[in-house]
Amino acid sequence: MRSMKLFGACLALLAIVGCSPKPAAESTAPAVAAAQPKPVASVLDLMLGQIDPAADFLWESVATISTDKGIEERQPRTDAEWAEVRHKALAVIEGANLLMLEGRRVAHPGQQLSEAGGEGDFTPEQSQAAVDADRATYLAYSEAMRGVAELLLAAIEKRDIDAMLENGGVLDETCEQCHRKFWYPNSPLPPGA
Ligand code: HEC
Repeated sequence: MRSMKLFGACLALLAIVGCSPKPAAESTAPAVAAAQPKPVASVLDLMLGQIDPAADFLWESVATISTDKGIEERQPRTDAEWAEVRHKALAVIEGANLLMLEGRRVAHPGQQLSEAGGEGDFTPEQSQAAVDADRATYLAYSEAMRGVAELLLAAIEKRDIDAMLENGGVLDETCEQCHRKFWYPNSPLPPGA
């Protein structure tokens, strides 16, 4: 009877700490493998679905537009508009983090660029080979984009239009920098560059 009781107590304990005479292990980490992020979107998916639309929204959110009715100074004004540009900056920042995720492919098998490229532009396969050959640069360019987008975020949080314009321009350069290496390395430089 007594041993049965002990066994029962041991079973109850087992559920909590395991019925082992050994002292509890020092680590409190669960025994299961740690959860890992899993890249599902391709780089092209991230460009088209997240980074490009968010960046376009940011670039278009501050502008001086002249129409027949006069000059329109476009900028976020309401709290909701400011919240929206803030979220777009975050989408670019976190997009950069997603680009850096180990195992993310430039394209899914058979996936093509949405528009036919110019002569000498990399296909997604060629782009993948270039990224594989120089991942450090690919990561550095992703980080550069994230850094500028963080400056843009800070400008938005201060509602500083000049800093938004300035960092918006630099953001464009960071896209271009990575594309010149991993997308259209043979395209002629724009005049004055
Ligand atoms: C770290 C590198 C990197 C950065 C930074 C980057 N891109 Fe890209 N982008 C790529 C690669 C790689 C491709 C695909 C090239 C290929 O397939 O030949 C691409 C493709 C694209 C495409 C074409 C997608 C399609 O299917 O037609 C767009 C649009 C684009 N990027 C927008 C942007 C914008 C906007 C930014 C900046 C806000 C940006 N990218 C920043 C690497 C980058």
